[in-house]
Amino acid sequence: MAETHPPAVESFLAKINSREAQVGIIGMGYVGLPLALTFIEKGFRVLGFDVDPAKVTALSEGKGYIKHLDPARIAAAAKTGRLEATTDFSRLGEPDAILICVPTPLTAQREPDMSYVVGSAQKIKERLRKGQLVVLESTTYPGTTDELVKGILEQSGLRMGQDFYLAFSPEREDPGNRDHSTATIPKVVGGVDRASLVLSQALYSQAIARVVAVSSARAAEAAKLTENIFRAINIALVNELKVVYDAMGIDVWEVLDAASTKPFGFMRFNPGPGWGGHCIPLDPFYLAWKAREYGVSTKFIELAGEVNVEMPHYVVNKLQLALNERGKALKGTKVLLLGVAYKKDIDDPRESPAFEIIELLRKLGAVLSFHDPHVPKLPRMRTWPHLPELSSVPLNEDTLKSHDAVMIVTDHSVVDYDLVLNHAALIVDARGVYRAANPKVVKA
Ligand SMILES: NC(=O)c1ccc[n+]([C@@H]2O[C@H](COP(=O)([O-])OP(=O)(O)OC[C@H]3O[C@@H](n4cnc5c(N)ncnc54)[C@H](O)[C@@H]3O)[C@@H](O)[C@H]2O)c1
Repeated sequence: MAETHPPAVESFLAKINSREAQVGIIGMGYVGLPLALTFIEKGFRVLGFDVDPAKVTALSEGKGYIKHLDPARIAAAAKTGRLEATTDFSRLGEPDAILICVPTPLTAQREPDMSYVVGSAQKIKERLRKGQLVVLESTTYPGTTDELVKGILEQSGLRMGQDFYLAFSPEREDPGNRDHSTATIPKVVGGVDRASLVLSQALYSQAIARVVAVSSARAAEAAKLTENIFRAINIALVNELKVVYDAMGIDVWEVLDAASTKPFGFMRFNPGPGWGGHCIPLDPFYLAWKAREYGVSTKFIELAGEVNVEMPHYVVNKLQLALNERGKALKGTKVLLLGVAYKKDIDDPRESPAFEIIELLRKLGAVLSFHDPHVPKLPRMRTWPHLPELSSVPLNEDTLKSHDAVMIVTDHSVVDYDLVLNHAALIVDARGVYRAANPKVVKA
């Protein structure tokens, strides 16, 4: 028997199913913009909110600002007349559903920085009207939606479940991944109450191929953290194995190639120069922080952190040892870093291990340059205020010959690695680009 709902929910469902509902998105970044495009491509009207006027202007002109997103998609979305972006948060009363996609970083003390989520909830509260659905998408600890966000929104005098609806639905966006897009990645949804689940499930089902309902917002928040903690721990494990096997004279890449042939019970992760991005190094600590409130420890998370933050030191040490073999010191040595983005084929340098590597090399007196086809200039980072202002140098024979060593930090696909191998004096390869043994190449 079909579930019956109160009249207000039924009419909202009808508005969603006819795609007349307007979707508001707060935060038009790596998550918010592709989500907006996905809803527009399915026929919805989207009103995007961002504090950054440059993004709003770009979208108004049908232009993009995220390299891996096809500019044609943004131009096409603008042409439909259904994409609007604004810095005017007094318009938050307009959309029927508001999806919050703002950053959730860590503070300097490595605790959840909820200021963006709280700020967004406060702005919504000022304009909240009866019948609106609010969905938090930012990665966060269990309890954020039904404690923190609900509490702020109810300061409006409206009651969740009666006057407005509230859910959590995590993002699984994987920038640069050509096999999966926002529309094809299954979306987990947890409502704070039944009506909120029904409405958010209906909304996402219009735009996304598969929606997976869970029993609560907390379960949805925990599902997202679990996915990223799984990655963080497995990255740490494979990084630890790299160090162990290297000491034994065993090539970890060969081992992984062999282990990966097992058709069940093994999932491949690759070692690297550390962990990066604004998710994997940060999200696990949202759970670790919340777990302390319950008096339970998160040893795997802490250990993964310890192993992964050690990796930049490991690769720098590998360079130092290789130079030592050649009778050289790191001080005064010209080092070219290849890649500063946190992973291949994207332009996002947030939390990239490249920054720690640059800092370590700089302290040891190396003379640094970098080449990254996707990052023209090393951005100023809050946590790395004193790094040198560097711009990407062209990658050619002259550049390679004028450096004493090349360190591969990010293995972007468009880089000509044969050119590098032919003309570099020494290569420290932290990404397994070169598999065959070569006296020039040090696997790190
Ligand atoms: N990028 C990813 O691959 C990814 C994947 C899964 C989950 N997430 C999560 O999604 C959330 C958003 O991440 P992102 O990568 O899109 O971040 P982002 O920095 O790319 O985008 C955030 C956007 O919000 C805007 N913004 C900042 N403060 C604001 C405010 N107070 N009001 C309105 N807009 C504001 C910024 O200008 C920016 O455009 C985070 O919780 C992140 O952990 C990201």
